Amino acid sequence: MTDIAKAGVYKMGDRAVKRMGYGAMQLAGPHVFGPPKEHDAAIAVLRAAVEAGVDHIDTSDFYGPHITNQLIREALHPYSDKLTIVTKVGAKRGDDGSWMPAQAPDELRGAVHDNLRNLGLDVLDVVNFRVMGEVMAPSEGSIEERFTALAELREQGLIRHLGLSNATAVQVGEAQKIAPVVCVQNEYNIVNRADDPLIDLLAEQGIAYVPFFPLGGFSPIQSDALAAIAARVGATSRQIALTWLLARAPNVLLIPGTSSVKHLHENLAAAELELSADTLAALDAIA
Ligand SMILES: NC(=O)c1ccc[n+]([C@@H]2O[C@H](COP(=O)([O-])OP(=O)(O)OC[C@H]3O[C@@H](n4cnc5c(N)ncnc54)[C@H](OP(=O)(O)O)[C@@H]3O)[C@@H](O)[C@H]2O)c1
Repeated sequence: MTDIAKAGVYKMGDRAVKRMGYGAMQLAGPHVFGPPKEHDAAIAVLRAAVEAGVDHIDTSDFYGPHITNQLIREALHPYSDKLTIVTKVGAKRGDDGSWMPAQAPDELRGAVHDNLRNLGLDVLDVVNFRVMGEVMAPSEGSIEERFTALAELREQGLIRHLGLSNATAVQVGEAQKIAPVVCVQNEYNIVNRADDPLIDLLAEQGIAYVPFFPLGGFSPIQSDALAAIAARVGATSRQIALTWLLARAPNVLLIPGTSSVKHLHENLAAAELELSADTLAALDAIA
């Protein structure tokens, strides 16, 4: 079995997690809406992740909605002290599966309670405030009132640590004046590197950067150059894309998503891959 600890650990507040984690979004039904195609297969993926040593799982109560958290609870509760579950608030789902902002302070408080109930927890390890200015790209705009609402829940003891998602460097700075930020989760991968400066800034501050869509998400990364390098190294393109992310900076934590145990093991094996400096340079040139 892969030793995922080979990729190292990084801190999120007072928690230390392995850099290779798991993103649970894909467990809910088609388009992250409704129940999974196969309930038992979803439970098996979560248990296989933890058995393989994963101690960082990313989720949200708006996946399903509620379903992904309920699956996590069914598969893994009572949770090991070693497991860090990171959730996010700031959106809700329409009856048609659409994604809508839910960012009023009352909605954020309600979402924290939904996460607590569906995960079966008294305290959430880490809650990311998911900015929804532009849905799929960070955009400027004050988050003070909304982040303050979450900081109050942290002070009340319902949340251990706060993070941000889909956020700009300016918003990270604004949030840090209100409460400590332990992680930032934005879209980033080998072909989408708009966040390069933010990753470096956060690395200097010891803050985790957690790329979502590390494999391209709903549009899998397509790159002939990546495929050629993967073939030469004897790995899959997805493994190389993940190993490149691990090499990008020590504060990068991975949460590749999958609904398949086979794919999970393929992805986790990227933690053991070592790439030469020449190969990493060739991968850098792909963007
Ligand atoms: N903050 C945000 O706004 C935000 C947005 C999106 C996602 N996220 C988080 O980020 C995590 C990762 O993102 P993601 O899951 O959307 O995208 P991803 O990790 O880039 O890719 C997941 C997709 O790749 C497929 N896949 C994964 N491993 C594979 C393999 N070894 N072989 C073939 N196909 C494979 C999956 O299908 P199979 O199920 O068939 O393996 C799925 O369709 C999510 O789970 C979620 O927790 C956060």
